[in-house]
Amino acid sequence: MSTRDLYTTAPPTLTWQVPATGAARFSWEYDDGRERLLALYQKGKDKQWDGATRIDWDLEVDPYDPLGTPDEVLTLHGTRHWAKMTEKDKGDLRRHYASWQFSQFLHGEQGAMVCAARIVESVPDLDAKFYSATQTMDEARHAEIYGRFLHDKIGMLYPINDNLRGLLDDTLRDSRWDMPYLGMQVLIEGLALAAFGMIRDTTDKPLPKQILAYVMQDEARHVAFGRMALRDYYRQLSDAELREREEFVIEGCHLMRDRLRGVEVLENFGIPKKEAEELSEQSEFLHLFRKLLFSRIVPCVKDIGLWGERLQKAYLDMGVFDLGDSNLDLLMAQDEEIAERLDAERFATEERARVTEVTDTIAQGATTD
Ligand SMILES: [Fe+2]
Ligand SMILES: [Fe+2]
Repeated sequence: MSTRDLYTTAPPTLTWQVPATGAARFSWEYDDGRERLLALYQKGKDKQWDGATRIDWDLEVDPYDPLGTPDEVLTLHGTRHWAKMTEKDKGDLRRHYASWQFSQFLHGEQGAMVCAARIVESVPDLDAKFYSATQTMDEARHAEIYGRFLHDKIGMLYPINDNLRGLLDDTLRDSRWDMPYLGMQVLIEGLALAAFGMIRDTTDKPLPKQILAYVMQDEARHVAFGRMALRDYYRQLSDAELREREEFVIEGCHLMRDRLRGVEVLENFGIPKKEAEELSEQSEFLHLFRKLLFSRIVPCVKDIGLWGERLQKAYLDMGVFDLGDSNLDLLMAQDEEIAERLDAERFATEERARVTEVTDTIAQGATTD
């Protein structure tokens, strides 16, 4: 079925064009490369996987509770609207929220694919081009998987959130080659990763858990790349140039904190925008969620050397300054471990099932003999 038919509100056109500026760069130096970047490229090649086979698409998903979300977590819980809702309405609400959330993941993954391809085009060094080419493929696989989940399992899609689109637009229009890294790899991916992690660790539904765990396994490489490339580059920039990047980060963080809350969902339930914003603002769960959302961004920004006074103050005001000390490497290592453990568990179960099947067949054979 065409995605147009599954959108809650179909976008006016099905193509979005962002004019490109900046140069495509070639490198004639084929011999050299930074060891760490080439190692990451190798890992990117070694760790490719196919969502069509690695994910168990036969698992059923209840579209009215795709993630097993408890009542208390829903923004409307405890409000006057909640009291009027039937069980069916609550199911619809869960479906809309899951659809909104995963649709933003999907559009974000497409954005990541386009940005990674842009980096292939514009970054001066060949080692970074090679690595980004593997990431472009990773992001294509992620977009494919989220798209399939939404089409086949939830049957509903939300258009891209206006503010997410705005941030992508700024990121892509900028002619400085480091901006797609900063906007996409550090900000948008950092935010996405935190959101993936929260759902991965709280959902009791096996299909979304698999999807998120496996996607996160790849994202650990992406963040590692952004950090390496930017740390090297930002050491060479002047103070004024660094301040510009910090301003961009501050603005992006504010926007993501205040404007990515699924207000569109509540509007679709007939709640006026202003009230929907207030309800989201008051939601205790969203408060916690918003802080956790920065768990990947803040330490990364600090690590790449964007830690000027203004940025520190902005993070203090947002209540996320302390996150600068969290151990990003440990979080990434855990992401990889979780995916590997999930594979091992599933493999063990499948192996047991296969052994049982073989034993049964043998037993059957013995009785028919
Ligand atoms: Fe991705
Ligand atoms: Fe990514």
